[in-house]
Amino acid sequence: MTLRLGVLISGRGSNLQAILDATASQTLDADVRLVISNRADAQGLERAARAGVSACVLEHGAFATRSEFDAELAARLLAAGVDWVVLAGFMRVLGQAFLSAFPDRVINVHPSLLPAFPGMRAQAQAVEYGARVTGCTVHLVDAGTDTGPIIVQRCIQIAPMESVESVEARLLHEEHTALVRALQLISAGQLSIETSSAGRRRVVVQ
Ligand code: GRF
Repeated sequence: MTLRLGVLISGRGSNLQAILDATASQTLDADVRLVISNRADAQGLERAARAGVSACVLEHGAFATRSEFDAELAARLLAAGVDWVVLAGFMRVLGQAFLSAFPDRVINVHPSLLPAFPGMRAQAQAVEYGARVTGCTVHLVDAGTDTGPIIVQRCIQIAPMESVESVEARLLHEEHTALVRALQLISAGQLSIETSSAGRRRVVVQ
């Protein structure tokens, strides 16, 4: 099934680029219908323009409340015919008003092996902690911060004395692979959600 994607960005947009490249090479059956950035200076906007994909800026500061911003974001994506939303380096937390417009159809890529190191600067958190292994996670977004059901994870070893910058660069590459893989699984209809005996919602891959 061709996924009709909306991609939300705040900056560089390398994860957006991975999606655009995978669709162009037909590795991924998806159509990026709309890119929205909450920052006018996001480099990802140029990537969208180069790929001939519709993009717009919606600055959160222009809205009186978080829920008004969320509602406008959801309205624009729905108007563009989007059925799955990818948070690709989008640096705003989305509330229930947004999530209920796309129930279990919003995914995020996070640069750690969740549930370890949620939140900001996850790569630096792992290095500062002295972790020997870290990675990235693509997960469904729920109302918590980096808490939703896991779809794909990839891991790397952290070398002794390795810098945060080096870990970030190596992880970014893994993020691109994991994000495209998660979208391929979604497109192929291979994911379902179950509730474990302990009451945790989790993704099952067929
Ligand atoms: C990525 O490391 C992502 O995991 C994090 O922000 C970064 C975004 O990179 N949430 P890019 O904008 O996709 O290049």
